Amino acid sequence: TCRVVVLISGNGSNLQALIDQQAAGLLPIDIVAVISNRPNVMGLQRAAKANIPHQVVDHTEFDSRELFDTALQQCIQQFTPDLVVLAGYMRIMTADLVRRFAGKMLNIHPSLLPKYPGLHTHRRALDNKDLQHGSSVHFVTEELDGGPVIAQSQFDIQPGDTEDSLAIRIKQLEHKLYPKVVGWFAENKIALQGNQALYNGEKLLQPKMI
Ligand code: GAR
Repeated sequence: TCRVVVLISGNGSNLQALIDQQAAGLLPIDIVAVISNRPNVMGLQRAAKANIPHQVVDHTEFDSRELFDTALQQCIQQFTPDLVVLAGYMRIMTADLVRRFAGKMLNIHPSLLPKYPGLHTHRRALDNKDLQHGSSVHFVTEELDGGPVIAQSQFDIQPGDTEDSLAIRIKQLEHKLYPKVVGWFAENKIALQGNQALYNGEKLLQPKMI
């Protein structure tokens, strides 16, 4: 089974979706650790409840991003993961850290990438009067939210939608989307080659729609 370390910064509902699918025998993964850059967050309680080792590497205790990422890398490394899953992890990573886990790190981002890398994606979709919104799972590369997209889920924005309603709706889709892609990784279906995602050994020309 694929050894997975999950990085979080907060609520951890995407972590919970992975925990639940693993527990149900639907995902050939072993979540060997949960690491949070913030203490006392809900995601850590979820890990505790599932008897998953969990640690905090608090970014506010480090003088620079480099020092923090070095500590984070050491923390991750002790669990010898096959895959690092960013699930609502809200820190920008140094190139060093990204390179260390090249091809072995996935992120979920709440927009239809390449639209809206960075923050406030729901507000930006509303401000631009987009008709659709969604979420993307991609391999992490040095470019922020710029790695090759593997799969997306999308939905129609309704009149009356707000940032909050979009955030809720997107998470419902993410809880299906992310476990699916993590499962593909665990089954060796997907890989990173240069700046390209491969699916069953072939270049993925467009994201899979889930
Ligand atoms: C998710 O919607 C995820 O896409 C987003 O944060 C939420 C975390 O929810 N991630 C980012 O914005 C990454 N920059 P969760 O903590 O309940 O899983």
